[in-house]
Amino acid sequence: MSSHAHVIGWGKYLPQRVLKNGELSELVDTSDEWIRTRTGIRERHLVEDGETTADMAVQAARQALEVAHFNPTQVELIIVATVTPDHLFPSTACLVQDMLGATRAAAFDLSAGCTGFIYGLSVAANMLLSGAYRSALVIGAETLSSITDWTDRATCVLFGDGAGAVVLQSGENEGGVLASSLGSDGSGGDLLWLPAGGSRIPTSQRTLDERLHFIQMKGREVFRFAVKVMHDATCEVLEKAGHALGDLTLLIPHQANQRIIEAAARSLDLSPEMVYSNVEWYGNTSAASIPIALSEAAEKGRIQTGDLVVCVGFGAGLTWGAAAIRWTRPQPMLAPLRRRIVRRLYYSLARIRSRFRRLIRWLSAFGIKDGLNGGRRSKE
Ligand code: ACO
Repeated sequence: MSSHAHVIGWGKYLPQRVLKNGELSELVDTSDEWIRTRTGIRERHLVEDGETTADMAVQAARQALEVAHFNPTQVELIIVATVTPDHLFPSTACLVQDMLGATRAAAFDLSAGCTGFIYGLSVAANMLLSGAYRSALVIGAETLSSITDWTDRATCVLFGDGAGAVVLQSGENEGGVLASSLGSDGSGGDLLWLPAGGSRIPTSQRTLDERLHFIQMKGREVFRFAVKVMHDATCEVLEKAGHALGDLTLLIPHQANQRIIEAAARSLDLSPEMVYSNVEWYGNTSAASIPIALSEAAEKGRIQTGDLVVCVGFGAGLTWGAAAIRWTRPQPMLAPLRRRIVRRLYYSLARIRSRFRRLIRWLSAFGIKDGLNGGRRSKE
């Protein structure tokens, strides 16, 4: 049984298209000034037509595997945290598994709103600690633009698309995910929700007419809840990990609103340099926001070996959670060219493999049908 779950790879993906505040003011009654002062957001990235949550998740995962010097076949578990899966089923994690060619991985999606990545990290770390798995890809990926009501100024200015991923590996050395702390309060479910399309309010002409397939939010209530739980979850996870606030190197909060981030920092008495923020450039990418921020902070050298990092988030559910990580991975060296080429080849082969398996399935379905017909014929 291994005793630690280490973060050994990280990656992020933001789609090419950028939507600036000025362009939003052409869609709804808002202004760059209002959006910047109330949220801190300047711009967000949006998918191109046809680009999906799974596509972005795969890009972030590939980057994380590159940093980890891992081949997809070494991944034993894939968790995708998302509220905007490609389909209700199959899971986006299974699509990612196929696209990566992670032939030995179990795969499932996890829904915990913007806290999804923290939930996923906690589940994966504990599965590694149990000894049942030795490696995991935890991905947060969202296409929020697909569930954003572009006529609602109260919400459409907030969200963006993107994906972030980490690779976890079990090991005997000290460090890695030290502790996690998760919470929920379903009584606040309607503060932030997408009302229709599930079993309670199935899709109908009425749900389409009443725009019930888009995010609805009571912003002020969510704001108050967010500031309180960011403080409490951070303190709780540090205590669980046997640390105090003074030991913290960097806080990586969910990137929903700069005012929420600053209020949480004030309540924890942390200086602005100790709190990572990139909400200005990406907006709120829900479950993707923390892994994007974590990857960016690691890429920029804001996290060094030995640092104590806390990721903390809140979101639909209501849910909240925090994870304390002792960083053990030094700044990665680029893998040798030969290994990078092999990985590229592997991804191309994954596509061929996927098509081949579909073909075999198609042919075998024919085989069974022929067999049945043949059986009947022989009776006749
Ligand atoms: N442009 C101009 N005016 C606006 C806009 C806009 N885009 N949106 C709202 N307003 C107006 C309102 O109509 C209101 O006008 P009124 O006073 O005449 O009624 C005024 O601005 C103030 O509205 P508030 O809602 O009080 O504004 P607030 O300062 O609370 O900011 C915001 C709103 C940004 C939504 C804030 O409440 C917030 O960030 N809440 C938390 C959101 C959040 O974190 N969501 C998490 C999502 S997590 C997930 O799981 C997806």
